Amino acid sequence: MTHILIVDDDEAIRQTLKVYFQQHGFKVSSAGTAEEGAALAFASNIDAIVSDIRLPGKDGLWLLREIKQRRPQCPVIMITAFHDLEMTVVAMQAGATDYVPKPIDLDELDAAVKRAVPRKSDADGAALVLGPQVASCSKIVGQSFAMKEVFKSIALVAQSRVTVMILGESGTGKELVARAVHDASDERQSPYIAVNCAALVESLLESELFGHERGAFTGAVSAHKGKIEQAGEGTLFLDEIAELSPAMQGKLLRILEEREYSPVGSTQIMKSKARFVAATNAKLEDRVASGGFREDLYYRLNVAVIHLPPLRERRNDIPLLVEFLLKKANRDLQKSIRRVSSEAMTCLQAYSWPGNVRQLENVLLKAVVMEQGDTLTTEHLLPEINCHSRGVVEPPQGTSREAFVSLRILERDYIVRVLNTTRWHKGKACQILGISRPRLERKIREFDLTAADDREKD
Ligand SMILES: Nc1ncnc2c1ncn2[C@@H]1O[C@H](COP(=O)(O)OP(=O)(O)OP(=O)(O)O)[C@@H](O)[C@H]1O
Ligand SMILES: [Mg+2]
Repeated sequence: MTHILIVDDDEAIRQTLKVYFQQHGFKVSSAGTAEEGAALAFASNIDAIVSDIRLPGKDGLWLLREIKQRRPQCPVIMITAFHDLEMTVVAMQAGATDYVPKPIDLDELDAAVKRAVPRKSDADGAALVLGPQVASCSKIVGQSFAMKEVFKSIALVAQSRVTVMILGESGTGKELVARAVHDASDERQSPYIAVNCAALVESLLESELFGHERGAFTGAVSAHKGKIEQAGEGTLFLDEIAELSPAMQGKLLRILEEREYSPVGSTQIMKSKARFVAATNAKLEDRVASGGFREDLYYRLNVAVIHLPPLRERRNDIPLLVEFLLKKANRDLQKSIRRVSSEAMTCLQAYSWPGNVRQLENVLLKAVVMEQGDTLTTEHLLPEINCHSRGVVEPPQGTSREAFVSLRILERDYIVRVLNTTRWHKGKACQILGISRPRLERKIREFDLTAADDREKD
């Protein structure tokens, strides 16, 4: 029987988890403090630990480090109070197997435990135990399953010097993630240099990246240190990589493979120790197929890929993002919007956001500028968001000025919410929605829903 240890200072949570896991065939021990938890873990044969990060006295991270030092093979799943990257990175870098945010979703925790326990034996040799390390990360907001996967990927790739490829539609946060990878890495004190490959013509980009000798071309009055050299042992972020010319693609390949390059107009061979992070919103496979992008470079870049899901596939992140972006807008514009009307939130959650988080940010900024009161209402949302063809209709005359959302949109959004919450477990979703499986399938087709994160559903 798998034996798990629950460490939480909240008696109610301890009891709930105990009962839940006992009913699911686990042997369960529990502790209210980190010290008590450590004592239990070392005294008995525990297969996995589920621990709150925040505990009175010594915290969950202390427990995690104790366990990783003395029982590195024992998976530890952290319960974190914040959905933010920083907590995840700290826990993951300290060797946590997984983490589950509060409020705890029992199914999610159950899935995490089941993932962790069978992996116990093969993780033995590979368990990477890094020292305590608090990363100062850029703030990336998200609590959807898809974003949690992104946070984990950031924490993982940050630990090595591997080349990272960030894919995602425009405005999904690629640049933010590139920065977060750097900030979470050991080289965060070294420079982070970003270059937009689409912004410069080929010859300028070349000297920008590689540097040039004095007199290398007309106008090169003095020698210029390239971005690669400037990055040193830090990170070089190559944005819009798909726009590189064929010649530049060849040169980049050489750097990635041999770490060598020559400044423009020079025969000198320079070595680069930088970590390369690339991003694009283009479909690189298509570019490769049409001959616009070198296949060998594509494979060289495609080692560690972080895929950023479009906002419409993680609508449950919208309220959190709205809160975060509104606070930011309040600060920037010295306003004090404190609330969002439920109609406005419904519209924001219903919209398809082709421009993703950047568009959401802009829409909120505009609304904040216009809003006189302390509540963001639909009045100042752009018409396409307020009454887009997605079925938002004006209320009958004489009723409130707020727009209503059609039942169809509500239905669609509710189904999306349930599917996301159950991680696309259609059986569970049917139970919650009270509809049959074929009916759910029909709705999924009708609303053209897709799961960004459907890898572990039934
Ligand atoms: N998860 C997130 N949490 C908070 N802010 C975010 C998030 N994702 C994106 N943003 C914000 O949205 C804006 C766009 O993000 P970013 O520039 O990183 O997108 P991008 O994917 O690089 O877009 P593009 O392809 O157009 O260059 C930024 O202001 C960024 O701070
Ligand atoms: Mg960008």
